[in-house]
Amino acid sequence: MGRTSIPDILEKYEHGDPLTMLTAYDAPIARQVDRGGVDMILVGDSAGDNHLGYDDTLPVTLDEAVSNTAAVDRAVEDAMVVADLPFLSYGASLETSVENAGRFMKEAGADAVKLETAPQGETTIEIVSRLTELGVPVVGHIGLTPQRMRQIGGGYVQGRGDGSSATVEALVATAEQLEHAGAFSIILEAVTEETGRQVTEAVDVPTIGIGAGRYVDGQVLVVTDVLGLSEESYRLSKQYADLNAVVQDAVESYVDDVRGGTFPASENVFDPIDDEE
Ligand code: KIV
Ligand code: NA
Repeated sequence: MGRTSIPDILEKYEHGDPLTMLTAYDAPIARQVDRGGVDMILVGDSAGDNHLGYDDTLPVTLDEAVSNTAAVDRAVEDAMVVADLPFLSYGASLETSVENAGRFMKEAGADAVKLETAPQGETTIEIVSRLTELGVPVVGHIGLTPQRMRQIGGGYVQGRGDGSSATVEALVATAEQLEHAGAFSIILEAVTEETGRQVTEAVDVPTIGIGAGRYVDGQVLVVTDVLGLSEESYRLSKQYADLNAVVQDAVESYVDDVRGGTFPASENVFDPIDDEE
């Protein structure tokens, strides 16, 4: 069968079936996310704060991102694996952008890459066009683009057209440029619901929202938020499990068992005449 392909994604889009995407950064979680039936798994640079212990996404290196993607690739059978290009791994030149993006497909087994585009960001539009021409499928990402957080500062929700928030028109124009450049899908992050609706109407590729409201073609969330492995909760997200509590309970039980002498028990120990392991 193979993994979900771009034609599979576009077929669902044409039928009006909502697309599902979650992040993953390692093999055990990726395996369960895949078994749960999502269409796409994003190895996000949200690994920065959700997997690698950094404060945000900016410090994530190319090698770390390639390594995370390879781990996810080894665990996933059905979902499309999309690798997020880390901060400044693209943009310095067309040449290094293509080489770096290529590593995710050639070394790490990614099916597609994703990169962020500032409102009408010419450099990244050109990179999307070049990658697409060369056979590297690209997912666009507009709206709140966390790699530009130091510039955006306090302005969070995009599409309001005030302060550091882009206008709806600029975001629609950027989405159209990305579609024209060959992006097969576009992620919309933290935009007004009206922006999500207008961008989705303007382009003929599926839009995938995170905090982009109800009138988009699919949804993506950060898996650690969904599973309750984060320290915070967000309005744009939804927590479906409390793994922090599950893990903590399990660890406390193990510690109690060892300290209380109930682990290991007789069934956990080896006997010289019993070769059953
Ligand atoms: O890195 C990430 O998790 C993302 C999603 C929020 C779209 O870019
Ligand atoms: Na990201």
